[in-house]
Amino acid sequence: MLTAAKVAVLVGSLRKESLNRKMANALVSLNASPLNFQFAEIGNLPLYNEDLEKQYAPEEWLSFRRQIKSADAALFFTPEYNRSVPGALKNALDVGSRPYGSSSWDGKPAAVISVSPGAIGAFGANQHLRQSFVFLNMPAMQQPEAYIGGAKEMFDAEGKLTNETTREFLNKFAQAFSSWIEMTRKR
Ligand code: FNR
Repeated sequence: MLTAAKVAVLVGSLRKESLNRKMANALVSLNASPLNFQFAEIGNLPLYNEDLEKQYAPEEWLSFRRQIKSADAALFFTPEYNRSVPGALKNALDVGSRPYGSSSWDGKPAAVISVSPGAIGAFGANQHLRQSFVFLNMPAMQQPEAYIGGAKEMFDAEGKLTNETTREFLNKFAQAFSSWIEMTRKR
């Protein structure tokens, strides 16, 4: 029997009232799977600059890399900015991927939930993120796909998820991701 997998949760929005953050909180608080979720914050990461690597890498980069390395898997919640991933999230991917040859992401199973107030559920951002997973060697869960649109209407004033269908979907998603992680750990 394997121990509960540690999953780093990354949220691609930095704003306080983020729908993605609320969705991430909803999934984590469901306790739908044996997964052990830990948020990996990205808002304090200085922009990636390879020159700094050779002098003194910022402490924020180093602790972020340690956190990702210590996780078994990564779960991403992303908004869509101009049909792609927000810069803050791309920066986190870049920071974690270096120094060259010791990427913190290497081999970690990943999954994406994209959340938007719009109708198409941030499909573009979701797919762009998956493109990076290929190069980062992160086996991405294929199904279920998660493009959550119309998210503005899904939370109450306290930020709690009130949409029952979405709650059931998050439940299934967490269970599927748990199985996916077990499959990739046994390889
Ligand atoms: C957006 N938004 C947006 N929405 C979308 O569905 N497709 C898009 O391409 C964009 N582009 C975009 C660019 C920028 C710079 C901003 C600030 C916003 C709207 C976006 O989905 C909305 O602000 C969400 O609420 C952002 O997610 P959080 O912060 O609520 O998690």
